Amino acid sequence: MNKIFIICAVIVAVAYAAPNSSSDLTDSVATTAETAVPFAAPTTGKTAIKTSDQGTVEDRTKLVAKLFKDYDKKVNPDDVKLKFGVGLIDFHISWQDPRLKWNPDQYGGATILRMDSEMIWKPDITLYNSADPVNMINCWHSNILIFSTGEILWVPPCKMVSRCHLTLKKHPYGEQVCGLKFGSWTFDGVILDLDFYDGKKTMDLSDLNNSSGFEILSNKAEKTDKFYPCCEEPYPDLTFNMTIKRIPGEELIKKW
Ligand SMILES: *[C@@H]1O[C@H](CO)[C@@H](O)[C@H](O)[C@H]1NC(C)=O
Ligand SMILES: *[C@@H]1O[C@H](CO)[C@@H](O)[C@H](O)[C@H]1NC(C)=O
Ligand SMILES: *[C@@H]1O[C@H](CO)[C@@H](O)[C@H](O)[C@H]1NC(C)=O
Ligand SMILES: *[C@@H]1O[C@H](CO)[C@@H](O)[C@H](O)[C@H]1NC(C)=O
Repeated sequence: MNKIFIICAVIVAVAYAAPNSSSDLTDSVATTAETAVPFAAPTTGKTAIKTSDQGTVEDRTKLVAKLFKDYDKKVNPDDVKLKFGVGLIDFHISWQDPRLKWNPDQYGGATILRMDSEMIWKPDITLYNSADPVNMINCWHSNILIFSTGEILWVPPCKMVSRCHLTLKKHPYGEQVCGLKFGSWTFDGVILDLDFYDGKKTMDLSDLNNSSGFEILSNKAEKTDKFYPCCEEPYPDLTFNMTIKRIPGEELIKKW
């Protein structure tokens, strides 16, 4: 249980290999999203990111030196309340690390640091039901945002293989049911609790509209706290269920 998993964004499997290749029907579908969308600001709306928020090079140099002087990324913070959201091409992951707080007044008004995500501790959120555990997730190396409040925001763009179940009815226009279950690999819910990013109990499917050739039939998510006989602590997971349907006559997603 000591494996370190890189957290990555999930790509929900939405596509057959080709619209007219009906022979390769399987119950797991690999999806590749090759379009990375740079994200501009947290969707919470409370913190718009402006370039003027970062202070000068000198401010940031002083700040980074101070923050990371005694920081050990191998050590996890206490009481992590992780917020987790799933989109078609990325995850939204945020949490609080009190070690990475500062007073902006002392650093030229800098309220945001953009850092290499390898520099800091990150939670080991894992997709439990990956169709391909070895080749599970494939992410672009991405930066992370650190706010002066100690809030961390990480939105890594990735592609991955997930498990979807296809109903064979009306192929190739059948429904596809995708269930994605995420949780920490090692931490229990007392040390690291999970909740929905922005409180949204759905997958973010704003990139999937009618022009993509799919119709969304349902989109629901829920949190489950599992208890085991051994232990008092809950083990939370977030499960995102989505049902989509090919729209007859529509071309398959072009950019994917
Ligand atoms: C799908 O059909 C189109 C036109 O009918 C054809 O040009 C294309 O090669 C076919 N693709 C595959 C993967 O069979
Ligand atoms: C549909 O999604 C595509 C990207 O997938 C986007 O370019 C387009 O503007 C969207 N259309 C509508 C009507 O939202
Ligand atoms: C998308 O397509 C479905 C079925 O073709 C239709 O019922 C729905 O109104 C469409 N939605 C939008 C936003 O165009
Ligand atoms: C998601 O799907 C699983 C398996 O079908 C089901 O047990 C669970 O209740 C579903 N959750 C939601 C929120 O739809």
